[in-house]
Amino acid sequence: MKYTAAETRYYAMKYRYAGHSGLRLPELSLGLWHNFGAEANESVCKGILTTAFDQGITHFDLANNYGPPAGSAEERFGHILKHELAPYRDELIISSKAGYYMWPGPYGEWGSRKYLIASCDQSLKRMGLEYVDIFYHHRPDPNTPLEETMAALAHLVRQGKALYVGISNYKAEDAKKAIALLKEMGTPCILNQVRYSMLDRWTEENGLLDAMDNQAGTICFSPLAQGLLTGRYLDGSIPEGSRASVNHFLKSEAITEKRVALLNELNTIAKSRDQSLSEMAISWLLKDPRITSVLIGASSERQLLENLKAINKPSTFSDEQIKELDAILARWE
Ligand SMILES: NC(=O)c1ccc[n+]([C@@H]2O[C@H](COP(=O)([O-])OP(=O)(O)OC[C@H]3O[C@@H](n4cnc5c(N)ncnc54)[C@H](OP(=O)(O)O)[C@@H]3O)[C@@H](O)[C@H]2O)c1
Repeated sequence: MKYTAAETRYYAMKYRYAGHSGLRLPELSLGLWHNFGAEANESVCKGILTTAFDQGITHFDLANNYGPPAGSAEERFGHILKHELAPYRDELIISSKAGYYMWPGPYGEWGSRKYLIASCDQSLKRMGLEYVDIFYHHRPDPNTPLEETMAALAHLVRQGKALYVGISNYKAEDAKKAIALLKEMGTPCILNQVRYSMLDRWTEENGLLDAMDNQAGTICFSPLAQGLLTGRYLDGSIPEGSRASVNHFLKSEAITEKRVALLNELNTIAKSRDQSLSEMAISWLLKDPRITSVLIGASSERQLLENLKAINKPSTFSDEQIKELDAILARWE
């Protein structure tokens, strides 16, 4: 056990309320989409998770389909939780999700009550938990009434299998409807999980931040654009073992000469702020008080510790810096 005293653990981290709820999340949360499946090295996983917890990261984000294979990240997390973090369960916010394909037949994906409730039960079993702190609907389902999906989330809360609920990957209009339905059901939606980074402004441009109207908080996934907004690719090469080298979710073709040049321009601004590129990318999101938490991934403790440094710096930018950044980002394609 390398855990520091609780006072030290919580000393450096800052916490923000999730929308209009009493739940506070760390400004930096850790996601287990990559690097925690059955093929990942158990001791590296353990190192990342325990270091995160030691540094005040109380929130770990999972989903039924994280792996590979699907489900194995929850199993891996459950194993580490049992052996390392079980005494600290009440200090942890663990989330899971259902929406994407998990098992064959008509009940293994999307948004039916049948699927959501069965999937939550499976996730609890894999993680060895009695409840998750947050359960999300992972993607909108065009063929299931929103009322049914939201009622299933509310049901999970009533059953005690989830404490809070959220949505992910919804467009603004549907997100507003989902939030209103959940409010009516007495189970407020506390978080909207969205893809948002300096390089991906879809969330901002499509009014999703405003649509929350301070009811639900916003938690941003892929804030480092899967590694592009880090030092990983600044010299134009693709390091062995990097996400781009796997060439699945981040394609190696995404690392073009033009993009590398722009990333280096961003890095020059980061240096002038005495930050690394990843630290600046995190600060850039945290400058907006509507953001509850920035949800990063990491394949090593070193990456995690570098990214955590963003929390020690004020997440403010001068008008001049914003103008310079926008001018660079406008050339990103
Ligand atoms: N709701 C949804 O639909 C959805 C979708 C996607 C993700 N998410 C959630 O968001 C979490 C984060 O997503 P993400 O993994 O795409 O986030 P990300 O933070 O944009 O990318 C993380 C990756 O960037 C690289 N990296 C991070 N810090 C680094 C550093 N300091 N130096 C060099 N490289 C660094 C590592 O990749 P290497 O492998 O190259 O080392 C790491 O795995 C997921 O785990 C999941 O919980 C949710």
